[in-house]
Amino acid sequence: MLDIKNITVLGSGIMGHGIAQVSAMSGYNVTLRDVEQQFLDKAMEKVKWSLDKLVSKQKLSQPEADKIFARITPKVDLADALKNCDLMIEAVPEIMELKKKVYAEVDKVADEKTVFASNTSTLPITEIANTTSRPERFIGIHFFNPPQLMKLVEVIPGQKTSPELVQTTIDFVKSVSKEPVLCKKDVAGFIVNRIFIPLVHEAAWAMARDAASMTEIDSAVKFRLGFPMGIFELADFTGLDVIHKATIEMHSRDKKVINPHPKIEELFNQKKLGQKSGSGFYEYSGDKYERIPLSEDLAKNFNPIRLVANILNNAAWLVTNQASDINEIEKALQLGMGLKKPVFETGKEFGVTNIVKELTAQAQKYGQFYEPDPLLVSMQN
Ligand SMILES: NC(=O)c1ccc[n+]([C@@H]2O[C@H](COP(=O)([O-])OP(=O)(O)OC[C@H]3O[C@@H](n4cnc5c(N)ncnc54)[C@H](O)[C@@H]3O)[C@@H](O)[C@H]2O)c1
Repeated sequence: MLDIKNITVLGSGIMGHGIAQVSAMSGYNVTLRDVEQQFLDKAMEKVKWSLDKLVSKQKLSQPEADKIFARITPKVDLADALKNCDLMIEAVPEIMELKKKVYAEVDKVADEKTVFASNTSTLPITEIANTTSRPERFIGIHFFNPPQLMKLVEVIPGQKTSPELVQTTIDFVKSVSKEPVLCKKDVAGFIVNRIFIPLVHEAAWAMARDAASMTEIDSAVKFRLGFPMGIFELADFTGLDVIHKATIEMHSRDKKVINPHPKIEELFNQKKLGQKSGSGFYEYSGDKYERIPLSEDLAKNFNPIRLVANILNNAAWLVTNQASDINEIEKALQLGMGLKKPVFETGKEFGVTNIVKELTAQAQKYGQFYEPDPLLVSMQN
């Protein structure tokens, strides 16, 4: 088994500083690397703020927090940052060309023993791995935002990743008190994004096709499907830039995964990025996190079977294509999206036969994208 003690996190942005913090909290020696000292200074300030908060909530003592903070060493020099590194976790921006450039540099200076893990949300692990000299020692490790709070980490082997590294990565994720979910194949969107991103588009299609309002759809999603908030609300919270980018990446890899609705691109082009820009699917008045008023009454005006069908069809695809299984998908959706009810249970409430009928009718009307997955067809009662 590979022995992980020293970790280097590349990129100190939203994800990188959080990954560095959770690793240091579990006793690892962490080097945090970014291209400019000012980015590292900001990142270390954020780590300090987060640790201070844990101290004020009495979850850590001050000496413990000081020790954790001291375990993270910020560095700009790449070769220096990678010295004696066992596991390198890369969290640089989600741009394929940039990632490849970064790996070319890293590959040259990293020790022979260093294994590479990318925190990419949507880019193909195998393609990035194959640009390095060590594709068998390259893996996807997908933390969720914010890493300090989110329990889920998807672990994604590329085509050549060694089984030993898969096990080491799962053990590492557990060692930082997170819950690993293995996505056995390097498929577009892995598990959570393969369900979440297409659902935003399907909900947008539902508005026109079912003449439903956003708050009716969102109320049904929240009160009948057990989501923590409506799907348009969740899209606004995530950011339309993130959703748009994920859509492009995922759709370019696999046409079966998403039926893109033009509204997402339109909002992105209008710079209506959601909560953070004051406007997205909904309008927001201030800086404070606002919730959209949804209700059980509004939920009665929209039958969400189309959305349940979309979720289950993508979940079934993951099982049929041996990327995951039902229990792992449920765990990923519960921890990654906060779902309060297992989606296959919701499917049973609506009736798998009804869902297959719904998908077949949609396929006739709107095309092959909606063809029911063979697993769903076989699950009819
Ligand atoms: N933000 C999210 O919600 C989220 C969630 C899960 C996964 N991810 C993934 O994590 C990765 C990072 O995303 P982010 O949101 O933290 O991005 P970010 O833009 O906040 O941070 C990226 C950081 O990388 C730095 N950087 C650029 N080139 C570098 C290099 N050569 N070496 C070291 N650092 C370099 C940048 O200066 C920046 O500080 C992406 O692949 C993204 O898809 C993001």
